[in-house]
Formats: sequence, C-alpha cells, structure tokens
Amino acid sequence: MKKNIVILISGGGSNMAAIASAAQQQGWQERHDIRIAAVISNRPDAGGLALAREAGIATAVVDHKAYASREDFDTALAQAIDAHAPALVVLAGFMRVLTPGFVAHYEGRLLNIHPSLLPAFPGLNTHQRAIDAGCKVAGCTVHEVTAELDVGPILDQAVVGVLPCDTAQTLAARVLEQEHQIYSRAVLAFLLGKNESGQAPSATCPR
Ligand code: GRF
Repeated sequence: MKKNIVILISGGGSNMAAIASAAQQQGWQERHDIRIAAVISNRPDAGGLALAREAGIATAVVDHKAYASREDFDTALAQAIDAHAPALVVLAGFMRVLTPGFVAHYEGRLLNIHPSLLPAFPGLNTHQRAIDAGCKVAGCTVHEVTAELDVGPILDQAVVGVLPCDTAQTLAARVLEQEHQIYSRAVLAFLLGKNESGQAPSATCPR
C-alpha cells in the first residue's frame, strides 16, 4: 500500500535532506511504495526549502506569524499536511510546540528527532547542558511524539563521546552527523515494521 511521508522543517533541513537522500539511494519508492510527498516549513526563509526543491520534493510554507493563535496555525498546518494523506509526519528541526489537538490528530504517525539522549535534556540548549553537567557521552533520539514535549516512545538512539575540548557547537556538529544516520533508518523501520496491531516491534534479544 502506498505510504506518503510529510516532513516538517523550520531551518537548514539537513535531517530532511539526509532522509530524502536515503530514500533515493535505498529506493524506498520502488521497493516499498514509500515516498516523501511534501516538505512543509513554518518559516518562509528556511534553507531546507531549497534543498527539498533540489531533491524534486513539493514544498509549502505555513507561516506561523500569519496566524493569531497556536490553534489557528496548527489547523492550517494540518490542512496542508492532510492534503498529502500521510502515513507518517516527520518533524525534522521543526521548532514549534504543537497543540494537543494536533498531536492527537497524528497519534501513532508522528516522529521527532531530539539532539540529546532522552529522557536526559528535553527542551532547548541540549549540548551546552550536557557539557555543563559533565556528561561523558551525548547523542540523539528518534521518538514518537506525544502530548508532552520530548517524551514518547523511543525508537532509536545514537551516542557520541563528549570531549574535554568540546563546545556546544563542536558537540552539536558530531551529534548532527549521527542524527543523519539514525533518522532515515528509524523512519523506514517504523513504516515497514508496523504489525497488524499498529505497534512497531522492538529489537529482538539473542536466544
Ligand atoms: C537538529 O539538531 C535537530 O535535532 C534539532 O534541530 C536541528 C535541526 O537541524 N531539533 P536541521 O534543520 O535538520 O539541519
């Protein structure tokens, strides 16, 4: 059965581009009937919009500044998303807090990537907070989105070491490389791995 993905971005869109490139290289459309139907940004100046167009993906902007309330914005955003009948909505550096109604509408088909090893460091400034806490490792997490910010079933994680010379910027750059590895993997596994009950199976233990 055909499965559409809609990716939401706010900025550079490097995670979106990594997913698009994996989809192309791994033949998601030909092999699994999975395609990235659209990339939608809440910022007209998001650099990722040009990357999406270069990859031949349809783009749209739903500018949050044009709406009086969070609810109005989320309603307009959901309309733009639902035009593509998505099996999965992927938040990739999408920097807006979503309303409970929006999250409920996409329950079970909404993923996010967060630049920390959740449940450590939800919210912003994750890399500086990891350095300030003296963490020896940091990383990133792909998770299902639920009503509470940065909480929700964890699908995949990657770990990087924190070096004594690290700044928030150098750590962020190494974590971002890992984000690019795990997000496409998690998206594909999520779309392929859902069983009859709609649950994604967990990794299996050795016998
Ligand atoms: C990533 O670090 C993501 O985890 C965070 O914002 C950054 C977005 O980067 N939420 P990009 O737009 O995918 O390049």
